[in-house]
Amino acid sequence: MIVVTGATGKLGGHVMKGLLEKVPAKDLRVAVRDPGKAADLAAAGVDVRRADYSDAAALADALVGADKLLLISSSAVGRRLAHHRAVIDAAVKAGVGQVVYTSILRAPTTPIALAGEHKQTEELLAATGTPFVFLRNGWYTENHTEQLPVILQHGAIAAAAGDGRFASAARADYAAAAVAVLTTPGHDGKAYELAGDQPFTLAELAAEISKQAGQPVSYANLPAAQYREVLVGAGLPEAYADILVDADVKAAAGALDDSSGDLRRLIGRPTTPVAVTVAEALAALPVVPSQGGR
Ligand SMILES: NC(=O)c1ccc[n+]([C@@H]2O[C@H](COP(=O)([O-])OP(=O)(O)OC[C@H]3O[C@@H](n4cnc5c(N)ncnc54)[C@H](OP(=O)(O)O)[C@@H]3O)[C@@H](O)[C@H]2O)c1
Repeated sequence: MIVVTGATGKLGGHVMKGLLEKVPAKDLRVAVRDPGKAADLAAAGVDVRRADYSDAAALADALVGADKLLLISSSAVGRRLAHHRAVIDAAVKAGVGQVVYTSILRAPTTPIALAGEHKQTEELLAATGTPFVFLRNGWYTENHTEQLPVILQHGAIAAAAGDGRFASAARADYAAAAVAVLTTPGHDGKAYELAGDQPFTLAELAAEISKQAGQPVSYANLPAAQYREVLVGAGLPEAYADILVDADVKAAAGALDDSSGDLRRLIGRPTTPVAVTVAEALAALPVVPSQGGR
């Protein structure tokens, strides 16, 4: 039995799609806080259990009989370590045979502030003695393309990442790596540095968006303090703005670049080119009705 947490999230959706192509549904279970969001999985024959990360009893129930667990890191920045500890404690008690954790690129050494909870989770998990695998995910290309409406509105990518290269990959690529690890032997104790094959700068991303959208898009590389003002002005909570600014500043110095090739090797194919993810995001934008006459 393979159990997946965070299965109703965006990465989890890709993971479950991939698992259902390789594993009978009766051997799959998801532990989610809102089973209503997993109706499609239940209909496909997956065992859906309600288990909020803050509910130890529910987590224990969700992990009974699990051979492998994919712990998709919690989205509650600042409360993630507590969430992950609860899941890991339940997994140890249930005697889960392997815990696969979605971490961050070079978790033990990266200067990115966001990595703190990932590093602590890795240490916690390694100390349990339970066989583990760390999937150290780099940036999702979608982190950039989900900003397309704002980018197109302003004709600019506003950021503070200088000429830093982003070795980003699509969520589907990282999900495929998780599926590969969960469905093949030989991964216990390994830490994979997962990133895209073709790193790009934000100036290169702006040029790609401009080419595909057919409108000028430039890269506005802002000083950190000014970028923070833009984010807070756009309504982001200050603490979250600080996290994003920090990631950009560290990316400028190479923290999100990578050339390990781990992701390509794990999934047995090149990672999704940024041009493809941009095209998909543009195609998904709502069509704005023309204002012109008949
Ligand atoms: N590598 C990157 O660039 C990057 C970017 C953003 C995030 N991340 C990390 O990667 C993870 C997966 O990414 P994603 O895009 O799939 O994020 P996402 O769509 O926000 O998914 C997060 C998942 O965590 C679940 N979750 C949050 N709090 C929970 C709780 N208290 N109990 C149980 N489940 C809870 C959510 O449940 P619901 O479905 O009910 O909301 C959701 O399924 C994120 O959570 C974050 O840690 C990585």
